[in-house]
Amino acid sequence: MFNEIDFTKIDLTGQPPADETKRQYYFMGKIRELLARESAVLGRPVTYCLQTFGCQMNEKQSEVVAGIMDEMGFDRKESEDADIVIYNTCTVRENANLKVYGRLGKLHNLKKHNPDMKIILFGCMMQEPHVVDKIRNDYPFVDLVFGTHNIFRFAELFYEMKNRDSQLVEIWEGTEQIVEELPTERNYSFKSGVNIMFGCNNFCSYCIVPYVRGRERSREPEAIVNEVKSLVADGVTEVMLLGQNVNSYGKTLEHPVTFAQLLQMVEAVPGLHRIRFMTSHPKDLSDELIEYMGKSKKVCHHLHLPMQSGSSRILKLMNRRYDKEKYLELVQKIRGAVPDISLTTDIIVGFPGETEEDFLETLDVVDKSNFDTAFTFIYSKRSGTPAAKMEDQVPEDVVKDRFDRLLSLVQEKGRMVSSRFQGTVQEVLVETESKEKGIFTGRTQYNLLVHFPGTSDMLGKYIQVRLDTCKGFYYLGTAVTEQE
Ligand code: SAH
Ligand code: SF4
Ligand code: F3S
Repeated sequence: MFNEIDFTKIDLTGQPPADETKRQYYFMGKIRELLARESAVLGRPVTYCLQTFGCQMNEKQSEVVAGIMDEMGFDRKESEDADIVIYNTCTVRENANLKVYGRLGKLHNLKKHNPDMKIILFGCMMQEPHVVDKIRNDYPFVDLVFGTHNIFRFAELFYEMKNRDSQLVEIWEGTEQIVEELPTERNYSFKSGVNIMFGCNNFCSYCIVPYVRGRERSREPEAIVNEVKSLVADGVTEVMLLGQNVNSYGKTLEHPVTFAQLLQMVEAVPGLHRIRFMTSHPKDLSDELIEYMGKSKKVCHHLHLPMQSGSSRILKLMNRRYDKEKYLELVQKIRGAVPDISLTTDIIVGFPGETEEDFLETLDVVDKSNFDTAFTFIYSKRSGTPAAKMEDQVPEDVVKDRFDRLLSLVQEKGRMVSSRFQGTVQEVLVETESKEKGIFTGRTQYNLLVHFPGTSDMLGKYIQVRLDTCKGFYYLGTAVTEQE
Protein backbone atom coordinates (compact mmCIF):
# COMPACT_ATOMS: atom_id res chain seq x y z
CA MET A 1 0.00 0.00 0.00
CA PHE A 2 0.92 3.61 -0.30
CA ASN A 3 3.08 5.32 2.30
CA GLU A 4 3.92 9.03 2.30
CA ILE A 5 6.64 9.72 -0.24
CA ASP A 6 9.77 11.32 1.19
CA PHE A 7 10.94 13.43 -1.74
CA THR A 8 14.10 14.48 0.08
CA LYS A 9 15.33 10.90 -0.34
CA ILE A 10 14.86 10.85 -4.12
CA ASP A 11 17.87 11.78 -6.25
CA LEU A 12 16.40 13.96 -9.00
CA THR A 13 19.73 14.71 -10.64
CA GLY A 14 20.35 11.14 -11.88
CA GLN A 15 18.57 8.89 -14.37
CA PRO A 16 15.00 7.69 -13.63
CA PRO A 17 15.05 4.36 -11.71
CA ALA A 18 13.99 1.13 -13.46
CA ASP A 19 11.62 -0.07 -10.73
CA GLU A 20 8.21 1.15 -11.90
CA THR A 21 6.93 2.58 -8.60
CA LYS A 22 10.23 4.33 -7.83
CA ARG A 23 10.35 5.64 -11.37
CA GLN A 24 6.96 7.29 -10.97
CA TYR A 25 7.99 8.80 -7.61
CA TYR A 26 11.05 10.24 -9.40
CA PHE A 27 8.84 11.96 -12.00
CA MET A 28 6.52 13.24 -9.29
CA GLY A 29 9.59 14.80 -7.67
CA LYS A 30 10.64 16.38 -10.98
CA ILE A 31 7.22 17.96 -11.43
CA ARG A 32 7.20 19.25 -7.85
CA GLU A 33 10.35 21.20 -8.75
CA LEU A 34 8.81 22.59 -11.96
CA LEU A 35 5.62 23.44 -10.16
CA ALA A 36 7.32 25.33 -7.33
CA ARG A 37 8.85 27.63 -9.95
CA GLU A 38 5.61 28.03 -11.90
CA SER A 39 3.62 28.77 -8.81
CA ALA A 40 6.17 31.39 -7.67
CA VAL A 41 5.88 33.16 -11.04
CA LEU A 42 2.08 33.08 -10.93
CA GLY A 43 2.00 34.07 -7.26
CA ARG A 44 -0.70 31.47 -6.58
CA PRO A 45 -1.14 27.68 -6.49
CA VAL A 46 -1.53 25.87 -9.82
CA THR A 47 -5.00 24.29 -9.97
CA TYR A 48 -6.55 21.22 -11.57
CA CYS A 49 -10.06 19.94 -12.16
CA LEU A 50 -10.63 16.19 -12.50
CA GLN A 51 -13.96 14.82 -13.67
CA THR A 52 -14.91 11.18 -13.86
CA PHE A 53 -17.48 9.60 -16.16
CA GLY A 54 -18.65 5.97 -15.97
CA CYS A 55 -18.43 3.29 -13.33
CA GLN A 56 -16.82 2.70 -9.95
CA MET A 57 -13.66 1.33 -11.56
CA ASN A 58 -13.17 4.71 -13.18
CA GLU A 59 -13.85 6.40 -9.83
CA LYS A 60 -11.19 4.24 -8.28
CA GLN A 61 -8.65 5.03 -11.00
CA SER A 62 -9.42 8.73 -10.72
CA GLU A 63 -8.51 8.53 -7.04
CA VAL A 64 -5.02 7.42 -8.12
CA VAL A 65 -4.68 10.28 -10.61
CA ALA A 66 -5.90 12.75 -7.97
CA GLY A 67 -3.46 11.23 -5.48
CA ILE A 68 -0.57 11.77 -7.89
CA MET A 69 -1.68 15.34 -8.73
CA ASP A 70 -1.92 16.21 -5.03
CA GLU A 71 1.45 14.60 -4.34
CA MET A 72 2.97 16.68 -7.14
CA GLY A 73 1.64 19.81 -5.43
CA PHE A 74 -1.40 20.84 -7.49
CA ASP A 75 -4.54 22.26 -5.86
CA ARG A 76 -7.82 20.63 -6.80
CA LYS A 77 -10.88 22.71 -7.68
CA GLU A 78 -14.38 21.76 -8.79
CA SER A 79 -14.86 24.09 -11.75
CA GLU A 80 -13.22 23.76 -15.14
CA ASP A 81 -11.60 27.22 -15.13
CA ALA A 82 -8.49 25.50 -13.77
CA ASP A 83 -4.92 25.42 -15.08
CA ILE A 84 -5.26 21.72 -15.85
CA VAL A 85 -8.48 19.91 -16.77
CA ILE A 86 -8.52 16.12 -16.69
CA TYR A 87 -11.37 13.85 -17.85
CA ASN A 88 -11.52 10.17 -17.03
CA THR A 89 -13.80 8.95 -19.80
CA CYS A 90 -16.37 6.17 -20.29
CA THR A 91 -17.60 4.68 -23.56
CA VAL A 92 -20.16 2.10 -22.45
CA ARG A 93 -22.94 3.99 -24.25
CA GLU A 94 -22.78 6.56 -27.01
CA ASN A 95 -24.12 9.39 -24.81
CA ALA A 96 -21.09 8.98 -22.52
CA ASN A 97 -18.87 9.83 -25.53
CA LEU A 98 -21.05 12.69 -26.70
CA LYS A 99 -20.79 14.29 -23.27
CA VAL A 100 -17.00 14.38 -23.53
CA TYR A 101 -17.00 15.89 -27.03
CA GLY A 102 -19.48 18.51 -25.85
CA ARG A 103 -17.27 19.44 -22.91
CA LEU A 104 -14.19 19.65 -25.13
CA GLY A 105 -15.87 22.34 -27.21
CA LYS A 106 -16.32 24.43 -24.06
CA LEU A 107 -12.75 23.78 -22.89
CA HIS A 108 -11.44 25.03 -26.21
CA ASN A 109 -12.97 28.43 -25.47
CA LEU A 110 -11.45 28.50 -21.99
CA LYS A 111 -8.07 27.60 -23.45
CA LYS A 112 -8.23 30.52 -25.87
CA HIS A 113 -8.27 32.81 -22.83
CA ASN A 114 -5.60 30.81 -20.99
CA PRO A 115 -3.14 29.35 -23.53
CA ASP A 116 -1.09 27.74 -20.74
CA MET A 117 -4.04 25.58 -19.78
CA LYS A 118 -3.46 21.82 -20.19
CA ILE A 119 -6.19 19.36 -21.17
CA ILE A 120 -5.77 15.67 -20.39
CA LEU A 121 -8.03 12.79 -21.45
CA PHE A 122 -7.75 9.19 -20.30
CA GLY A 123 -9.83 6.10 -19.58
CA CYS A 124 -12.02 3.72 -21.56
CA MET A 125 -13.02 5.97 -24.45
CA MET A 126 -9.37 6.54 -25.32
CA GLN A 127 -8.86 2.80 -25.89
CA GLU A 128 -10.93 3.09 -29.08
CA PRO A 129 -8.78 3.87 -32.13
CA HIS A 130 -11.51 5.91 -33.87
CA VAL A 131 -11.77 8.16 -30.81
CA VAL A 132 -8.03 8.79 -30.72
CA ASP A 133 -8.08 9.62 -34.46
CA LYS A 134 -10.86 12.11 -33.86
CA ILE A 135 -8.99 13.74 -30.95
CA ARG A 136 -5.85 13.99 -33.10
CA ASN A 137 -7.70 15.54 -36.03
CA ASP A 138 -10.50 17.59 -34.52
CA TYR A 139 -9.20 18.43 -31.03
CA PRO A 140 -5.46 19.17 -31.45
CA PHE A 141 -5.62 21.48 -28.42
CA VAL A 142 -5.84 18.41 -26.14
CA ASP A 143 -2.37 18.00 -24.58
CA LEU A 144 -2.23 14.43 -23.29
CA VAL A 145 -4.17 11.26 -24.10
CA PHE A 146 -3.69 7.89 -22.43
CA GLY A 147 -5.85 4.83 -21.82
CA THR A 148 -6.84 2.35 -19.12
CA HIS A 149 -3.69 0.18 -19.02
CA ASN A 150 -0.98 2.79 -18.43
CA ILE A 151 -2.54 4.97 -15.72
CA PHE A 152 0.31 4.07 -13.38
CA ARG A 153 2.61 6.00 -15.77
CA PHE A 154 0.66 9.22 -15.26
CA ALA A 155 3.47 11.18 -13.54
CA GLU A 156 5.95 10.30 -16.28
CA LEU A 157 3.50 11.13 -19.07
CA PHE A 158 2.69 14.41 -17.37
CA TYR A 159 6.38 15.27 -17.25
CA GLU A 160 6.78 14.46 -20.94
CA MET A 161 3.74 16.59 -21.78
CA LYS A 162 5.27 19.54 -19.91
CA ASN A 163 8.38 19.25 -22.04
CA ARG A 164 6.79 19.42 -25.47
CA ASP A 165 4.43 21.59 -27.48
CA SER A 166 2.52 18.98 -29.44
CA GLN A 167 -0.16 16.51 -28.38
CA LEU A 168 1.16 13.42 -26.57
CA VAL A 169 -0.74 10.16 -27.10
CA GLU A 170 0.17 6.88 -25.38
CA ILE A 171 -2.31 4.01 -25.62
CA TRP A 172 -1.47 0.43 -24.71
CA GLU A 173 -3.30 -2.57 -26.15
CA GLY A 174 -3.20 -4.36 -22.81
CA THR A 175 -0.97 -5.12 -19.86
CA GLU A 176 -0.07 -7.83 -17.41
CA GLN A 177 1.32 -5.24 -14.98
CA ILE A 178 -0.45 -4.35 -11.74
CA VAL A 179 1.57 -1.53 -10.16
CA GLU A 180 0.88 -1.18 -6.43
CA GLU A 181 1.83 1.59 -4.00
CA LEU A 182 0.75 4.65 -5.94
CA PRO A 183 -0.68 7.61 -4.02
CA THR A 184 -4.48 7.76 -3.85
CA GLU A 185 -6.77 10.54 -2.79
CA ARG A 186 -9.89 8.84 -1.48
CA ASN A 187 -13.28 10.44 -2.06
CA TYR A 188 -14.49 9.36 1.39
CA SER A 189 -12.42 8.76 4.52
CA PHE A 190 -14.65 5.93 5.81
CA LYS A 191 -15.50 3.89 2.70
CA SER A 192 -13.52 2.81 -0.30
CA GLY A 193 -13.63 0.72 -3.46
CA VAL A 194 -11.02 -2.02 -3.77
CA ASN A 195 -10.20 -3.52 -7.14
CA ILE A 196 -10.11 -7.28 -6.98
CA MET A 197 -9.82 -7.85 -10.71
CA PHE A 198 -9.40 -5.95 -13.92
CA GLY A 199 -10.82 -6.47 -17.42
CA CYS A 200 -13.53 -8.80 -18.65
CA ASN A 201 -13.62 -12.01 -20.72
CA ASN A 202 -17.33 -12.36 -21.20
CA PHE A 203 -17.86 -10.53 -24.46
CA CYS A 204 -21.58 -9.91 -24.07
CA SER A 205 -22.40 -9.10 -27.66
CA TYR A 206 -23.49 -5.49 -27.02
CA CYS A 207 -20.65 -4.52 -24.70
CA ILE A 208 -17.47 -2.55 -25.36
CA VAL A 209 -15.88 -3.13 -21.94
CA PRO A 210 -13.80 -6.24 -22.84
CA TYR A 211 -12.28 -4.28 -25.75
CA VAL A 212 -11.32 -1.24 -23.70
CA ARG A 213 -10.41 -2.91 -20.41
CA GLY A 214 -8.61 -5.96 -21.76
CA ARG A 215 -8.55 -9.54 -20.50
CA GLU A 216 -9.66 -10.55 -17.04
CA ARG A 217 -6.87 -10.51 -14.42
CA SER A 218 -7.39 -11.14 -10.71
CA ARG A 219 -5.24 -9.58 -8.02
CA GLU A 220 -3.61 -11.92 -5.52
CA PRO A 221 -5.82 -12.34 -2.44
CA GLU A 222 -2.93 -11.30 -0.15
CA ALA A 223 -2.58 -7.97 -1.99
CA ILE A 224 -6.32 -7.37 -1.64
CA VAL A 225 -6.38 -8.24 2.06
CA ASN A 226 -3.35 -6.04 2.70
CA GLU A 227 -5.01 -3.14 0.95
CA VAL A 228 -8.16 -3.64 3.04
CA LYS A 229 -6.06 -3.82 6.23
CA SER A 230 -4.30 -0.56 5.50
CA LEU A 231 -7.59 1.12 4.52
CA VAL A 232 -9.06 0.02 7.86
CA ALA A 233 -5.98 1.34 9.66
CA ASP A 234 -6.71 4.62 7.89
CA GLY A 235 -10.31 4.81 9.14
CA VAL A 236 -12.25 2.88 6.47
CA THR A 237 -15.06 0.63 7.74
CA GLU A 238 -16.88 -0.19 4.48
CA VAL A 239 -15.27 -1.63 1.36
CA MET A 240 -16.75 -2.30 -2.06
CA LEU A 241 -14.91 -5.07 -3.90
CA LEU A 242 -14.84 -4.13 -7.56
CA GLY A 243 -14.72 -6.18 -10.76
CA GLN A 244 -16.76 -6.54 -13.96
CA ASN A 245 -17.63 -10.08 -12.91
CA VAL A 246 -16.60 -10.69 -9.32
CA ASN A 247 -18.12 -14.18 -9.36
CA SER A 248 -15.34 -15.41 -11.59
CA TYR A 249 -12.66 -13.93 -9.30
CA GLY A 250 -9.54 -16.00 -8.76
CA LYS A 251 -10.06 -18.65 -11.44
CA THR A 252 -6.89 -17.78 -13.30
CA LEU A 253 -4.59 -17.30 -10.28
CA GLU A 254 -1.67 -19.68 -9.88
CA HIS A 255 -3.40 -20.94 -6.73
CA PRO A 256 -7.08 -20.48 -7.58
CA VAL A 257 -9.34 -18.93 -4.95
CA THR A 258 -13.12 -18.55 -5.22
CA PHE A 259 -14.88 -15.26 -4.64
CA ALA A 260 -16.61 -16.66 -1.54
CA GLN A 261 -13.19 -17.64 -0.14
CA LEU A 262 -11.89 -14.15 -0.83
CA LEU A 263 -14.89 -12.67 1.00
CA GLN A 264 -14.07 -14.86 3.97
CA MET A 265 -10.47 -13.59 3.99
CA VAL A 266 -11.61 -9.97 3.76
CA GLU A 267 -14.21 -10.53 6.46
CA ALA A 268 -11.45 -11.66 8.84
CA VAL A 269 -9.90 -8.16 8.82
CA PRO A 270 -10.62 -6.73 12.29
CA GLY A 271 -12.27 -3.30 12.37
CA LEU A 272 -13.97 -3.73 9.00
CA HIS A 273 -17.74 -3.39 9.37
CA ARG A 274 -19.34 -3.75 5.94
CA ILE A 275 -18.43 -5.49 2.70
CA ARG A 276 -20.12 -4.80 -0.61
CA PHE A 277 -19.28 -6.03 -4.10
CA MET A 278 -20.02 -5.20 -7.76
CA THR A 279 -20.84 -6.69 -10.24
CA SER A 280 -22.18 -10.23 -10.21
CA HIS A 281 -22.79 -12.06 -13.45
CA PRO A 282 -25.70 -14.51 -13.09
CA LYS A 283 -23.90 -17.24 -15.04
CA ASP A 284 -21.19 -17.48 -12.35
CA LEU A 285 -23.25 -16.87 -9.19
CA SER A 286 -22.33 -19.90 -7.09
CA ASP A 287 -24.22 -21.71 -4.34
CA GLU A 288 -21.11 -21.23 -2.23
CA LEU A 289 -21.46 -17.44 -2.51
CA ILE A 290 -25.20 -17.48 -1.84
CA GLU A 291 -24.64 -19.60 1.25
CA TYR A 292 -21.82 -17.36 2.43
CA MET A 293 -23.94 -14.23 2.07
CA GLY A 294 -26.55 -15.84 4.32
CA LYS A 295 -24.17 -16.51 7.16
CA SER A 296 -21.66 -13.64 6.89
CA LYS A 297 -21.71 -10.93 9.55
CA LYS A 298 -20.18 -8.25 7.33
CA VAL A 299 -21.36 -8.83 3.77
CA CYS A 300 -24.27 -6.46 3.13
CA HIS A 301 -27.57 -8.02 2.12
CA HIS A 302 -27.57 -6.35 -1.25
CA LEU A 303 -26.94 -8.07 -4.55
CA HIS A 304 -26.65 -6.30 -7.88
CA LEU A 305 -27.47 -8.99 -10.44
CA PRO A 306 -27.81 -7.57 -13.94
CA MET A 307 -30.43 -9.46 -15.96
CA GLN A 308 -30.16 -7.35 -19.16
CA SER A 309 -33.26 -9.00 -20.67
CA GLY A 310 -36.04 -11.36 -19.59
CA SER A 311 -36.23 -13.08 -22.98
CA SER A 312 -34.21 -16.30 -23.29
CA ARG A 313 -33.95 -15.71 -27.04
CA ILE A 314 -32.45 -12.23 -26.56
CA LEU A 315 -30.20 -13.42 -23.72
CA LYS A 316 -28.75 -15.97 -26.14
CA LEU A 317 -28.12 -13.29 -28.77
CA MET A 318 -26.54 -11.17 -26.03
CA ASN A 319 -24.19 -14.09 -25.22
CA ARG A 320 -25.14 -13.92 -21.54
CA ARG A 321 -25.08 -17.70 -21.07
CA TYR A 322 -28.19 -18.03 -18.86
CA ASP A 323 -31.88 -17.97 -19.69
CA LYS A 324 -35.03 -16.55 -18.14
CA GLU A 325 -35.68 -19.67 -16.05
CA LYS A 326 -32.12 -19.79 -14.72
CA TYR A 327 -32.33 -16.12 -13.73
CA LEU A 328 -35.64 -16.56 -11.90
CA GLU A 329 -34.27 -19.69 -10.22
CA LEU A 330 -31.27 -17.68 -8.93
CA VAL A 331 -33.60 -15.01 -7.55
CA GLN A 332 -35.56 -17.72 -5.70
CA LYS A 333 -32.40 -19.31 -4.38
CA ILE A 334 -30.91 -16.10 -3.06
CA ARG A 335 -34.19 -15.12 -1.41
CA GLY A 336 -34.31 -18.56 0.23
CA ALA A 337 -30.82 -18.16 1.70
CA VAL A 338 -31.00 -14.42 2.49
CA PRO A 339 -34.69 -13.56 2.96
CA ASP A 340 -34.12 -9.82 3.56
CA ILE A 341 -31.86 -9.42 0.48
CA SER A 342 -32.16 -6.25 -1.54
CA LEU A 343 -31.89 -7.10 -5.23
CA THR A 344 -31.01 -4.62 -7.94
CA THR A 345 -30.43 -5.11 -11.65
CA ASP A 346 -29.53 -3.61 -15.03
CA ILE A 347 -31.82 -3.92 -18.04
CA ILE A 348 -31.23 -3.05 -21.69
CA VAL A 349 -34.20 -2.16 -23.90
CA GLY A 350 -34.13 -2.35 -27.68
CA PHE A 351 -31.37 -4.88 -28.30
CA PRO A 352 -31.35 -5.70 -32.05
CA GLY A 353 -34.23 -7.99 -32.98
CA GLU A 354 -36.12 -7.45 -29.69
CA THR A 355 -39.83 -8.03 -30.38
CA GLU A 356 -42.84 -7.02 -28.30
CA GLU A 357 -42.99 -10.64 -27.03
CA ASP A 358 -39.36 -10.48 -25.93
CA PHE A 359 -40.03 -7.20 -24.18
CA LEU A 360 -43.05 -8.66 -22.37
CA GLU A 361 -40.75 -11.40 -21.02
CA THR A 362 -38.56 -8.64 -19.55
CA LEU A 363 -41.59 -7.04 -17.89
CA ASP A 364 -42.54 -10.48 -16.57
CA VAL A 365 -39.15 -11.00 -14.88
CA VAL A 366 -39.32 -7.49 -13.38
CA ASP A 367 -42.79 -8.28 -12.09
CA LYS A 368 -41.70 -11.58 -10.53
CA SER A 369 -38.30 -10.58 -9.13
CA ASN A 370 -39.25 -7.68 -6.83
CA PHE A 371 -36.14 -5.61 -7.47
CA ASP A 372 -35.47 -2.75 -5.08
CA THR A 373 -34.09 -0.76 -8.02
CA ALA A 374 -33.42 -1.46 -11.68
CA PHE A 375 -31.12 0.63 -13.86
CA THR A 376 -32.66 0.80 -17.31
CA PHE A 377 -30.71 1.58 -20.45
CA ILE A 378 -31.62 2.11 -24.07
CA TYR A 379 -29.45 -0.16 -26.22
CA SER A 380 -26.54 1.78 -27.65
CA LYS A 381 -24.69 0.50 -30.69
CA ARG A 382 -20.95 0.21 -29.94
CA SER A 383 -18.79 -0.17 -33.01
CA GLY A 384 -16.60 -3.24 -32.97
CA THR A 385 -19.06 -5.34 -30.93
CA PRO A 386 -20.93 -8.27 -32.55
CA ALA A 387 -24.34 -6.67 -31.87
CA ALA A 388 -23.40 -3.60 -33.92
CA LYS A 389 -23.47 -5.80 -37.03
CA MET A 390 -26.83 -7.41 -36.25
CA GLU A 391 -29.74 -6.58 -38.46
CA ASP A 392 -33.14 -5.52 -37.14
CA GLN A 393 -32.02 -2.57 -35.08
CA VAL A 394 -35.26 -1.60 -33.28
CA PRO A 395 -36.80 1.72 -34.41
CA GLU A 396 -36.26 4.61 -32.00
CA ASP A 397 -39.95 5.32 -31.28
CA VAL A 398 -40.58 1.65 -30.43
CA VAL A 399 -37.60 1.59 -28.06
CA LYS A 400 -38.68 4.82 -26.42
CA ASP A 401 -42.18 3.48 -25.84
CA ARG A 402 -40.83 0.25 -24.31
CA PHE A 403 -38.36 2.17 -22.18
CA ASP A 404 -41.16 4.32 -20.72
CA ARG A 405 -43.31 1.27 -19.99
CA LEU A 406 -40.40 -0.51 -18.33
CA LEU A 407 -39.48 2.53 -16.27
CA SER A 408 -42.98 2.94 -14.90
CA LEU A 409 -43.15 -0.74 -13.88
CA VAL A 410 -39.67 -0.56 -12.30
CA GLN A 411 -40.64 2.54 -10.34
CA GLU A 412 -43.97 1.15 -9.22
CA LYS A 413 -42.39 -2.13 -8.07
CA GLY A 414 -39.40 -0.34 -6.51
CA ARG A 415 -41.67 1.88 -4.43
CA MET A 416 -43.63 -1.13 -3.24
CA VAL A 417 -40.53 -3.20 -2.44
CA SER A 418 -38.71 -0.35 -0.66
CA SER A 419 -41.75 0.35 1.51
CA ARG A 420 -41.09 -2.92 3.35
CA PHE A 421 -38.75 -0.99 5.64
CA GLN A 422 -41.38 1.57 6.64
CA GLY A 423 -41.20 2.27 10.39
CA THR A 424 -38.22 -0.03 11.02
CA VAL A 425 -34.99 1.06 12.69
CA GLN A 426 -31.91 0.44 10.52
CA GLU A 427 -28.22 0.94 10.95
CA VAL A 428 -26.95 3.53 8.47
CA LEU A 429 -23.47 4.66 7.63
CA VAL A 430 -23.65 8.48 7.54
CA GLU A 431 -22.00 9.65 4.32
CA THR A 432 -22.72 13.31 3.57
CA GLU A 433 -24.41 16.47 4.76
CA SER A 434 -26.90 17.70 2.19
CA LYS A 435 -27.06 21.23 0.82
CA GLU A 436 -29.82 21.80 3.32
CA LYS A 437 -27.74 22.30 6.49
CA GLY A 438 -28.35 19.88 9.33
CA ILE A 439 -29.78 17.20 7.04
CA PHE A 440 -27.53 14.16 6.64
CA THR A 441 -27.59 11.24 4.25
CA GLY A 442 -26.74 7.70 5.17
CA ARG A 443 -27.02 4.30 3.58
CA THR A 444 -28.48 1.13 5.02
CA GLN A 445 -26.82 -2.21 4.30
CA TYR A 446 -29.51 -2.61 1.61
CA ASN A 447 -27.95 0.37 -0.18
CA LEU A 448 -31.07 2.41 0.53
CA LEU A 449 -30.53 6.14 1.11
CA VAL A 450 -31.99 7.81 4.20
CA HIS A 451 -32.07 11.57 4.86
CA PHE A 452 -32.42 12.66 8.48
CA PRO A 453 -31.65 15.61 10.77
CA GLY A 454 -28.29 15.13 12.46
CA THR A 455 -24.98 16.66 13.47
CA SER A 456 -21.65 16.65 11.69
CA ASP A 457 -19.99 14.40 14.28
CA MET A 458 -22.18 11.63 12.84
CA LEU A 459 -20.31 11.68 9.51
CA GLY A 460 -18.55 8.36 8.87
CA LYS A 461 -20.31 6.68 11.81
CA TYR A 462 -22.95 3.97 12.05
CA ILE A 463 -26.17 5.40 13.49
CA GLN A 464 -29.54 3.80 14.19
CA VAL A 465 -32.19 5.60 12.17
CA ARG A 466 -35.94 5.04 12.08
CA LEU A 467 -37.25 5.04 8.51
CA ASP A 468 -40.35 7.21 8.79
CA THR A 469 -41.44 8.11 5.27
CA CYS A 470 -40.78 6.13 2.10
CA LYS A 471 -40.19 8.41 -0.89
CA GLY A 472 -39.78 5.64 -3.44
CA PHE A 473 -36.06 5.10 -3.72
CA TYR A 474 -35.13 6.83 -0.48
CA TYR A 475 -36.49 7.50 3.01
CA LEU A 476 -36.87 10.40 5.39
CA GLY A 477 -35.95 9.29 8.89
CA THR A 478 -35.06 10.15 12.48
CA ALA A 479 -31.84 9.25 14.29
CA VAL A 480 -32.74 7.06 17.24
CA THR A 481 -29.51 6.35 19.09
CA GLU A 482 -25.88 6.66 18.23
CA GLN A 483 -23.91 3.45 17.91
CA GLU A 484 -20.14 3.00 18.01
N1 SAH B 1 -19.91 -6.03 -15.91
C1 SAH B 1 -21.19 -5.59 -15.59
C2 SAH B 1 -21.72 -4.42 -16.40
C3 SAH B 1 -20.86 -3.29 -16.74
S1 SAH B 1 -21.58 -2.11 -17.81
C4 SAH B 1 -22.12 -6.76 -15.81
O1 SAH B 1 -21.92 -7.57 -16.65
O2 SAH B 1 -23.13 -6.77 -15.15
C5 SAH B 1 -23.00 -1.60 -16.88
C6 SAH B 1 -24.30 -1.79 -17.59
O3 SAH B 1 -24.33 -1.03 -18.76
C7 SAH B 1 -24.56 -3.21 -18.07
O4 SAH B 1 -25.04 -4.04 -17.07
C8 SAH B 1 -25.57 -3.00 -19.17
O5 SAH B 1 -26.89 -3.04 -18.68
C9 SAH B 1 -25.27 -1.59 -19.66
N2 SAH B 1 -24.70 -1.63 -21.01
C10 SAH B 1 -23.52 -2.16 -21.38
N3 SAH B 1 -23.34 -2.01 -22.71
C11 SAH B 1 -24.45 -1.37 -23.18
C12 SAH B 1 -24.88 -0.94 -24.47
N4 SAH B 1 -24.14 -1.15 -25.55
N5 SAH B 1 -26.06 -0.29 -24.55
C13 SAH B 1 -26.83 -0.07 -23.47
N6 SAH B 1 -26.49 -0.46 -22.24
C14 SAH B 1 -25.31 -1.11 -22.08
FE1 SF4 C 1 -19.74 -6.09 -20.47
FE2 SF4 C 1 -20.72 -8.51 -20.17
FE3 SF4 C 1 -18.25 -7.98 -19.34
FE4 SF4 C 1 -20.33 -6.97 -18.05
S1 SF4 C 1 -19.84 -9.14 -18.23
S2 SF4 C 1 -18.50 -5.89 -18.65
S3 SF4 C 1 -21.79 -6.57 -19.68
S4 SF4 C 1 -18.98 -7.99 -21.44
FE1 F3S D 1 -17.53 2.97 -18.71
FE2 F3S D 1 -15.20 1.85 -18.74
FE3 F3S D 1 -16.72 1.56 -16.65
S1 F3S D 1 -16.58 1.98 -20.45
S2 F3S D 1 -18.77 1.69 -17.45
S3 F3S D 1 -15.90 3.45 -17.36
S4 F3S D 1 -15.32 0.06 -17.48
